[in-house]
Amino acid sequence: MPGIVIVGAQWGDEGKGKIVDLLAEKADMVVRFQGGNNAGHTIVRDGHKYAFHLIPSGILYPGKACVIGNGVVVDPRVLTDEIDGLRAKGIDASGLRVSANAHLIMPYHLMLDSAGEAKLGKLSIGTTKRGIGPCYADKAARLGIRVQDMLDEKILKKKIAAALEPKRLTLRPFAKDPALDLQSMTEDYLTFGHRLEQFIADTSSLTQRCLDDGGTVVFEGAQATMLDLDHGTYPFVTSSNPVAGAACIGAGVGPRDIDVIWGVAKAYATRVGAGPFPTELDDAVGAEIRERGGEFGTTTGRARRTGWLDLVALRYAARLNTLTGLVITKLDVFSGFDTIRVCTRYRGDDEATFDVFPYHQSVLHHAVGDYVELPGWQEDISEARSLEDLPQAAREYLDFIADFIGVPIVLVGVGPGREQIIWTQSGDRLAAAA
Ligand code: IMP
Repeated sequence: MPGIVIVGAQWGDEGKGKIVDLLAEKADMVVRFQGGNNAGHTIVRDGHKYAFHLIPSGILYPGKACVIGNGVVVDPRVLTDEIDGLRAKGIDASGLRVSANAHLIMPYHLMLDSAGEAKLGKLSIGTTKRGIGPCYADKAARLGIRVQDMLDEKILKKKIAAALEPKRLTLRPFAKDPALDLQSMTEDYLTFGHRLEQFIADTSSLTQRCLDDGGTVVFEGAQATMLDLDHGTYPFVTSSNPVAGAACIGAGVGPRDIDVIWGVAKAYATRVGAGPFPTELDDAVGAEIRERGGEFGTTTGRARRTGWLDLVALRYAARLNTLTGLVITKLDVFSGFDTIRVCTRYRGDDEATFDVFPYHQSVLHHAVGDYVELPGWQEDISEARSLEDLPQAAREYLDFIADFIGVPIVLVGVGPGREQIIWTQSGDRLAAAA
């Protein structure tokens, strides 16, 4: 009964979508367990480009069970648009299931997200403005509207009215916005409910049944460890828990249902939005990595901040997630670099050094990377399909990472294509075990 969790081990955008897509082919079910349409990835299949923000990309395999778990926050407008987009391309979306207990992003959550960011001014987080934070806040305040509420007009209207009440003051600038009218909001969400009804289910039971029957379930994380609400660089984080432990809560399974946990990291580091980033390269090298790696957001189009690989943060992620395997993506971006730096500890104020990720925000905000310089390579590695195909320096770079983190590298990405991947021996073994 293998449960495989895939999480981001850095600040997001590590290429989890491609890894999940690879595993989904053989899996019986793919489950998203947190986040919302702040995530996004693009899959190219048979010459068509598909952009997903909510539906697991496993949906491209006909009939594959794809679950949006209870821990996800769902904007029904985005979800119905994604379903329409699939149908327009002749893709069968019948395998989709949405948890009846997942919370809904409401129009006022989008307004509150933008208003909150504007109010913070220079201290703003740089959110995706998709209403994620305000939706999770309502969930915790027990003022959330859930997917199942869309199926009952009376309950829906009553709950929206109750959720709006404490927000009146903050929403005053939007008071005349027709999207805030109680009656039309209720009608809109009832319509979404009718359209989504065939997909709404008790997804926790479905997932558990699949595991009990010996099926393979891939739990697809969104965002990443360093953006975790509890363990990331708070307050510059998202409003959910992208760490592996959250797969249990957000999918409704138990810790013993998880067998394999892979963390995905790029060969370098990127971050979108504000917040500490000790290995950031605010120079020509950073710009080169951004250009070569195409580091512009799929969800917001924002240019990503770039930096050297941060092994202090990666070791922290390996510990928090109890990673059993490490996936290194975009190694090809470094082809042509004479040397590559990798951060093995932080330097703070007063010559202090940190081998372990510092919990204290003031320390972290002043921390800069201390680097080991490794030889680069000139060869194009995009055709490599085994470790032996890689230049010695590229292999040494991977060995350095695996030795430092103490977790085997299972997959290495050498290009954007689906086939541009190296399964290492440990990866093959783990895949076979799964
Ligand atoms: P929110 O999730 O929209 O509230 O944004 C909070 C922080 O998480 C911001 O710094 C965003 O840029 C970041 N973030 C949210 N989703 C992603 C993602 O999928 N990739 C990278 N960063 C993300």
